[in-house]
Amino acid sequence: MLRLLQTLKLNNNLFPVWFMRQAGRYLPEFLEIRFQKKNFLDLCFDPKLSGEIALQPIKRFDLDAIIVFSDILIIPNSLGQKVYYIENVGPVLEPLQKKKLLKVDEYLKFVSKNFKIYNQIKILRKKIKRKAIIGFAGAPWTLATYMLNRGSPKHNFKIRNLDFTEKLIHFLTTFIVFHIQKQIKNGADVIQIFDSWAGLIKKDQLNRFCYHPTKIILSQIKKKFPNIPIICFPRGIGKNYKDFVNIVKPDCISIDQFTNPSWAIDNFNGTPIQGGINPTIFCEEKKDVKKITYKYLNVFKSYPYIFNLGHGIKPHSKIENIKYMVEIIKKNRL
Ligand code: CP3
Repeated sequence: MLRLLQTLKLNNNLFPVWFMRQAGRYLPEFLEIRFQKKNFLDLCFDPKLSGEIALQPIKRFDLDAIIVFSDILIIPNSLGQKVYYIENVGPVLEPLQKKKLLKVDEYLKFVSKNFKIYNQIKILRKKIKRKAIIGFAGAPWTLATYMLNRGSPKHNFKIRNLDFTEKLIHFLTTFIVFHIQKQIKNGADVIQIFDSWAGLIKKDQLNRFCYHPTKIILSQIKKKFPNIPIICFPRGIGKNYKDFVNIVKPDCISIDQFTNPSWAIDNFNGTPIQGGINPTIFCEEKKDVKKITYKYLNVFKSYPYIFNLGHGIKPHSKIENIKYMVEIIKKNRL
């Protein structure tokens, strides 16, 4: 069985490894293809190019999982709120207009807008049998922050209308479930839900905007696909990670670099853990990479763990550092 799935399902500690944003700007072969298309979404919707990009990090580092090449913002885009990716700025969304959005029952329209992503997965699955394919979606809260803020909520986010936000989250949940189900039907064998901005939610609203909607997504997916593991990444929620694990009960919990791995082991009731390594490590010296890799191998020696970072690979990462970390992990596998 695939190493990643084995660690997720059987609690074996096989130290699988993959990295968030493993296909991206730090790879010269990505940049070469990137310049062929002006718009980033055109790249995602070209099954030949996107499939090739998804495999680039696998060819270089022989990682244990392929993550579908897409973006969390294809959901707002296909629902009717157009997204533009602007160099050195990031994603910019047109104003959110309720009238322009699909209706909850317009499932077929939604699927037809994204069928090239599902096709990418189908092609990858046919081609590669020995690696896990990770499908993904943004969590409703994180998608809502981009939609309401018309871009990253990094610098200036404030929810103005809690009830509207809740309605929007409810609406998004339905389409996130569709999107995940289609990815599974086309060959994804693991799903990751990115709640990149969960850290912006006040403690007394976490249940309403993060735990509860995520739990609904998990239960809907589990009804149809009980054997597909779901990894959750509620980034930035600090000590509330413990409540998240207890309430949402994901198959695996992805931690950020601010979460102490020993604390996580003590508080997550055996739930497999992923990630946590500071993404800046790949911009440092080789000796630092060695030190941190051995630290994580040691801390997780008797706990199911998937090697990954606390957030995506940074564009200035040194490729030789990534290679070196993967080498150490493989050398020390059980
Ligand atoms: O290798 C992979 O992980 C594959 C695909 C992937 C992308 N985005 C491709 C991408 C995944 C899993 C994502 C998730 C994503 N996208 C998240 C959640 C994870 C996180 O980073 O918190 C978020 C918040 C987004 C939204 C988004 N998309 C931003 C903020 C940006 C611009 C800034 C940046 O990081 O580059 C994007 C664009 C994007 N998504 C690129 C890629 C390869 C770069 C586009 C380009 O080259 O122009």
